[in-house]
Amino acid sequence: MLLSGKEPSNSMKRDAAVLSEKFEKNFSRKPCLAVVFVGSNPASTVYVRNKKKACEETGMGHLDVDLDENISEEALIEKVKALNSDSNVDGILVQLPLPKHINVSRVLSYISAEKDVDGFSAENLGKLLTEEKGLVACTPKGILYLLDYYNIETEGKNVVVVGRSRIVGKPIAALLEQKCRNATVTLCHSSTKNLDFYLKNADIVICAVGKAHVISEDMVKKDAVVIDVGTNRVPDASKKSGYALQGDFCYSAEDGGDLKVTPVPGGVGLMTVSSLMDNTLIAACRRMGIEKEDL
Ligand code: GUN
Repeated sequence: MLLSGKEPSNSMKRDAAVLSEKFEKNFSRKPCLAVVFVGSNPASTVYVRNKKKACEETGMGHLDVDLDENISEEALIEKVKALNSDSNVDGILVQLPLPKHINVSRVLSYISAEKDVDGFSAENLGKLLTEEKGLVACTPKGILYLLDYYNIETEGKNVVVVGRSRIVGKPIAALLEQKCRNATVTLCHSSTKNLDFYLKNADIVICAVGKAHVISEDMVKKDAVVIDVGTNRVPDASKKSGYALQGDFCYSAEDGGDLKVTPVPGGVGLMTVSSLMDNTLIAACRRMGIEKEDL
């Protein structure tokens, strides 16, 4: 079975649109996301376009901050600081990756936690671990929504997360081991010995490696749930663009067969964008002194 991201992400966006309209009625302005894009990375160009489109679909505003590839780290930090103090901006997203001469962690550390709709800051990641109210990273948040949407139980399940990134691996592992999810989580990475052993015992596998087809169906249980976070560009002469998108996971049956698997494209990526809209709304409400549930 394929776990499409289309229906759950549309459902999330519909809810965001309703709340966004209420927000505008209450506060006479739209929630607003600042989208900072440095350079012209082709994959990022597509992601940024999709994020802005989602803002428009859900009745939110976006402030486009397009910056030259050669911008200095200090100048980028000054931009971030200006957005922190801009009262019309509710959320700040700095699209990654950044050019090599820029220290990503340093730049992200300047985004104020209240506007950190990516949930990448030390403060928001810390709050995730202490289970305090903060902003949760979009891809992990989207994965949880997708699991709930398809009624996939996590209680007592063995979950293997492959990949330890700050964007996906670490936060999804932390979220799934919380009492409200109660999964037993194993976090595997590039130095894990005998990955096959862990995968064979996993009820749910979260592939967040970032390498095309590194995990294949013969490595997981026959009826495993596989959440594929990878969106890898591989050369494909049959496509107009010259490339195709492939996940980290490789399976043969078009519909996944006995597996429950998220397709690439059309799976987790859609959930990430919808979660960003939800986070922007949450951040906007908190800046106005309320929770989105109070709208
Ligand atoms: N690049 C790839 N994924 C993401 C994401 O979720 N947020 C940001 N800011 N950049 C990314």
